[in-house]
Amino acid sequence: QADVFTYDPGFTSTASCESAITYIDGDAGVLLHRGYPIGQLAGKSHYLEVCYLLLYGALPTATELEDFEKRVTMHTMVHEQMHKFYSGFRRDAHPMAIMVGVVGAMSAFYHDSTDISDPWQREVASIRLIAKMPTIAAMAFKYTIGQPFVYPRNDLDYASNFLRMCFAVPAEEYEVNPILARAMDRIFTLHADHEQNASTSTVRLASSSGANPFASIAAGIACLWGPAHGGANQACLEMLREIGTVDRIPEYIAKAKDKNDPFRLMGFGHRVYKNFDPRATVMKESADEVLDLLGVEDNPVLQVAKELEKQALADPYFSEKKLFPNVDFYSGIILEAMGFPTSMFTPIFALSRTVGWISQWKEMIEDPSMKIGRPRQLYTGATERDYVDVEKR
Ligand code: SDX
Repeated sequence: QADVFTYDPGFTSTASCESAITYIDGDAGVLLHRGYPIGQLAGKSHYLEVCYLLLYGALPTATELEDFEKRVTMHTMVHEQMHKFYSGFRRDAHPMAIMVGVVGAMSAFYHDSTDISDPWQREVASIRLIAKMPTIAAMAFKYTIGQPFVYPRNDLDYASNFLRMCFAVPAEEYEVNPILARAMDRIFTLHADHEQNASTSTVRLASSSGANPFASIAAGIACLWGPAHGGANQACLEMLREIGTVDRIPEYIAKAKDKNDPFRLMGFGHRVYKNFDPRATVMKESADEVLDLLGVEDNPVLQVAKELEKQALADPYFSEKKLFPNVDFYSGIILEAMGFPTSMFTPIFALSRTVGWISQWKEMIEDPSMKIGRPRQLYTGATERDYVDVEKR
């Protein structure tokens, strides 16, 4: 049984909620999931084991892990009718638009796991969402590039299954490279949960009304899409593309430092971390591994990324403002090197974060003191006044 944080009885806080799942110390650059440091989990564990930890609060025994992985595997296919849902989108739809729609519509396909008052239905909804998100994301990718959907396979691990569903084609099998599968699994693990970030708070608020889990997770996906949040990895790669060549980096660093210029270095800075994001440290190791495997010499975007990181880290402006590369800076580099279009970066973030959203949803729903969320405001509008007929205005 782990020791737990306790607070003095008189302690008061402006916190939006209590949670026992993830702890962040932004100044120290610490991230714990159920007490375990993210560096240890990313180095020694794997995504589905971290899912079990986040959902149930303890690392599984070998038998518990085998049973959990089998339950997830048996739910990786989506209802065949769902395939028709995709054909209603234009081929140039952003995969995030498709994921918001398809996940929101899951409540219309899986009626037997929408009643949040039933513990069994809550459990099935959790497993279904974790299991089906890679399939839904891969189908969104295939749909937008005009290739046929690839079904999941039960003999592959979670990350390998996702890579194969994205890159296999009927004409040619896709052999999953273990280094890429490991890097993919690490990306999933490093994005699994992150305390009360914007999208997780959205899921908590949406589900506090009793909305079904699929609708609540769809709300989280919509929020994550924003470029200041989960959309930062796509925005970061687009920024690197816009910079184009190493010699233009000083011009963009100057723009980022100019208070009159709204431009910000995408993939840098964080609302909470005023130190290196511990996830970025691990992600950087993976980026180096993947670039060694796939080569960076002939990829100008990746060359710009490496040089930008070097120059920004050496610039006192960024260190004084505690602006360091965040998890999105390096994940974008890895996904680019793997061959994903930037439009798939945030859907991959969304599928990774599903377990964090679901774990916090479960924690909140199972709290008997839970009430519907109702944030208050400071009113700054007009004082009371009488209506004036239009003829007199
Ligand atoms: C995620 O909440 C989470 O946990 C989110 C997340 C998760 O896992 O869920 O970690 C995922 O969203 C990571 C962040 C991804 N976003 C980006 O990479 C977009 C680029 N970053 C910025 O938009 C920005 O850093 C924020 C939004 C992330 C944070 O903005 P803040 O709160 O304004 O940052 P700050 O208060 O620490 O900024 C300090 C100063 C400010 O200048 P001053 O007003 O003090 O003069 O630094 C400036 C900012 O203007 N600044 C930047 C900058 N980020 C902040 N200047 C240039 N480039 C940047 N990227």
